[in-house]
Amino acid sequence: MKHVISPLDLSMEELDRVLSLAERIFKNPEKYSECCHGKKLATLFYEPSTRTRLSFEAAMLNLGGSVLGFSSADSSSAAKGESVSDTIRVVSSYADICAMRHPKEGAPFVASLHSSIPVINAGDGGHNHPTQTLTDLFTLKILKGHLDHLTIGFCGDLKFGRTVHSLINAMVRYPGSRFILISPDELRIPTYLREEVLSANNIPYCEVKVLEEVMPKLDILYMTRVQKERFFNEEDYIRLKDSFILDAAKMKYAREDMLVLHPLPRVNEIAAEVDDDPRAVYFTQAKLGVYVRMALIMILLNISAEL
Ligand code: CP
Repeated sequence: MKHVISPLDLSMEELDRVLSLAERIFKNPEKYSECCHGKKLATLFYEPSTRTRLSFEAAMLNLGGSVLGFSSADSSSAAKGESVSDTIRVVSSYADICAMRHPKEGAPFVASLHSSIPVINAGDGGHNHPTQTLTDLFTLKILKGHLDHLTIGFCGDLKFGRTVHSLINAMVRYPGSRFILISPDELRIPTYLREEVLSANNIPYCEVKVLEEVMPKLDILYMTRVQKERFFNEEDYIRLKDSFILDAAKMKYAREDMLVLHPLPRVNEIAAEVDDDPRAVYFTQAKLGVYVRMALIMILLNISAEL
């Protein structure tokens, strides 16, 4: 049995398997519509979510399975003090696979130690969000055609943005990846990523504070929301929240084939006027997330793709 807590829990071979199966499902979803008949997915969400929870649920329903779960800690026995390890022991006897989001880093890992069903990390604090990473990789594979030799600009809250941390960890495994990290000083990527992931692997990267200057160099611009819920004081959040706003004027600096990704939800960091630009693909990205989650569920449940 396999759990997916970090994007690195999938080998490159397993990653290719997920992305290839997702592409086959994307091209012919009907073929897979009964694959998980009789199987149940539990969504244990201790923190708010729209895309991750609903796309997991849509994925299981699209595969002919069923879903159960809760969408906030308040509506579960966590509100009465139940531990994650007790909860997962119980849920293991109700469902075949589980997706867990939790505000505390490491909570899905703890769950995996006490689980008899596969646990998928659906976002743990400021740490990791592996299925968002699969979604991002699948979006690049479908829209760009390749995952190697890409220059990716990450812009915004690189300190708390777990989607950024997960995607950097995943992209360093592809040859020719280069990173341009665009953030205010206070929201730089964590030191461990800079030193143990980028520098240790000789990955070319630079850190800048002005988005327009680097736009012409980018294949991908990955915008992120300043993560209000992770700040210790509101004053800092208010000061930093509008550090970068992508608008039509800034898009003029970008190449014709640059793509704008964003894990969503967005607040102010992308003006609505950018949505009509063909390079803005964040809503397509959210849609593609269903197919990678379908593929991941099938693979973790050992369901044959050869139907
Ligand atoms: N991208 C993402 O994780 O969105 P949700 O918080 O809505 O799940």
